[in-house]
Amino acid sequence: MPDLNDATRGRVLYGGDYNPEQWPERVWHDDIRLMRRAGVTTVTVGVFSWARLEPRPGARDFGWLDRILDLLHEGGIEVCLATPTASPPPWMGSRHPETLPRDESGTVVWYGSRNQFCASSPVYREHALRITEDLADRYGGHPALRMWHVGNEYGTHCWCDETARHFRRWLRTRYGGLDALNEAWGTAFWSQRYDSWEEIIPPRRAQYLINPGQALDFRRFTSDALLECFTAERDALAARTPHTPVTTNFMPLFIGQDGWAWAAEEDVVSVDLYPDPKDPHAAAYGALVQDLTRSQAGGPWVLMEQAAGPVNWRGVNHPKPDGLMRLWSLQAVARGADAVCFFQWRQSRQGSEKFHSGMVPHAGEHSRTFARVRELGAELRELAPVAGTDVPARAAILHDWHSWWATAQDGRPSSLVSCERLLRAWHQALWERNLTTDFAHPHADLTDYALVAVPQLYLLTDEALDNLAAYVRGGGTLVCGFFTGVADEDDRVRPGGVDRRLRALLGIRTVHEWWPLDEGEALTAEGAWLGAFHGTLWSEDLEPSTAEPVARIKGGELDGRPAVTRNAYGTGTAWYVSTLPEPAALRALLGRAAEEAGLAPVLPGLPEGVEAVRRGPYLFLLNHGRTPAVVPLPSARTDLLTGRAHHTGVRLDRFAVMVLAPPESLG
Ligand code: GAL
Repeated sequence: MPDLNDATRGRVLYGGDYNPEQWPERVWHDDIRLMRRAGVTTVTVGVFSWARLEPRPGARDFGWLDRILDLLHEGGIEVCLATPTASPPPWMGSRHPETLPRDESGTVVWYGSRNQFCASSPVYREHALRITEDLADRYGGHPALRMWHVGNEYGTHCWCDETARHFRRWLRTRYGGLDALNEAWGTAFWSQRYDSWEEIIPPRRAQYLINPGQALDFRRFTSDALLECFTAERDALAARTPHTPVTTNFMPLFIGQDGWAWAAEEDVVSVDLYPDPKDPHAAAYGALVQDLTRSQAGGPWVLMEQAAGPVNWRGVNHPKPDGLMRLWSLQAVARGADAVCFFQWRQSRQGSEKFHSGMVPHAGEHSRTFARVRELGAELRELAPVAGTDVPARAAILHDWHSWWATAQDGRPSSLVSCERLLRAWHQALWERNLTTDFAHPHADLTDYALVAVPQLYLLTDEALDNLAAYVRGGGTLVCGFFTGVADEDDRVRPGGVDRRLRALLGIRTVHEWWPLDEGEALTAEGAWLGAFHGTLWSEDLEPSTAEPVARIKGGELDGRPAVTRNAYGTGTAWYVSTLPEPAALRALLGRAAEEAGLAPVLPGLPEGVEAVRRGPYLFLLNHGRTPAVVPLPSARTDLLTGRAHHTGVRLDRFAVMVLAPPESLG
């Protein structure tokens, strides 16, 4: 199977989405001149070109694509060629209205924007496959081709009749018979029992709360239906170009796709990442997405899109102050990216994204943005030795989309508790301790991790529960957050409210009741070494069995109940955290658990705001702070970017990055 190395060939790729069809051909020559100036290696062409490539059903207009690919090749620029299937042309919706998605109320989602397709539509699928096959037949042997990019950010939903038929087929495969389905969905409740398959529909707009089993399965089904669209195109490409890797770009921390299942079907995993320059936690969020993407890829990955400046889809869209675009690009490389790309190459003059930045902005080549783009291109060339190397991590956060889907429904103890919020809080705490963290599926082999954190996995399969128990029994350290292990695979509450295997592992006899906290409400807890801290979102009336309380709630209805516990189990340790501790306390808690598990931060004693990551033999230092920072070095190092040697320490200005190599790794 081809992989990312087939595209990178020992370099860090640099480029972006290139939409030449938006420009007269005379601009193309200027594009290539500027790409060369910027050190661009690779551009993604054709992501939204369907209406241009197939102006009417069955017609083909490839001449322009022939010309631009030849020009790019002559200019030494390689191509990640996209299938255009994320945005069907107007003729499809107009001639085949059944390809248009319908929302929960049955309202048609029209063309005039993008992504207006129903993943279950055979007509859409057939047209998508034909244009993909023709592209592969025509360009599979083109010397500029390095990678295929299928569709774009798969994530649409549809509730139409075709989807209903497809959903029923999917359910028949999952359950075999209606009895099993009725059992799994708990249809004895509210007179929801199904007597024939034809009665089953997607969870459309209804009077009150939707059956949670139905809603969960529809999430599963939708992810699978979209994945079928992807794999059909991938197979058509792979049959024609078995040595060219295939990818599709994920949205960051996106609920709509089972990220583990999807990544397993890709040769290369790529993601789009747009942190808000005004968000004080943007760097931590970026690190999370990068760690998740690296874990999905099982190694190096592609940053397929980021912005050179502002986006245009927030309420207020902020540019990046000088240094930030470089800092976040190199953060991605530090955390395993072998490609740094943008949406998009040249800022559009028309269309919905004309105020979204580009590598070449409206202000042209004599602009601050393009100057920074050129500098970054030159630096990435220097980072070629980093390409292909690994990012070692001995801590892991467990994440599972099925659990996320099950918790993202109405009718829960608290609508404030969100998987994303908890993942971000816990990952940030580890990130701030400079503990490099992978993500892992709850069924994954955990034996190589010294620390495993579960911010929240409401739904845990039997296999996952056994896996966690075996991990701790064998000497692992588990830190487990609240409202975990509550439901089985069908979203059925486990006997006792929390699974008994998990309770045994955590040393908890009973969770008598959950006491969620309101927005703005906080509890106070106190522990010997943790001191006093606030907890938000959640609290519990918890009765330990063998676990020792590490911190107890002070005051209120739950006065004296444990907020944090620690239990010896087998040869390992299992911690339980029954609230969301304020950031400093969560940091202290996870730091202590890591320390006891024998995990050291990448570098000790780092100033606040400085991130340190090891990748291969290199040590990346990134100052996210707005003031200079001084970092002591354990041994002499040379900055790969400047060639300068540093002995006892380095000074990092605001947003500065150093990529330090041990002397022996420099040839
Ligand atoms: C991405 C998308 C691009 C562009 C970009 C703008 O989600 O893939 O086509 O719309 O956002 O930020």
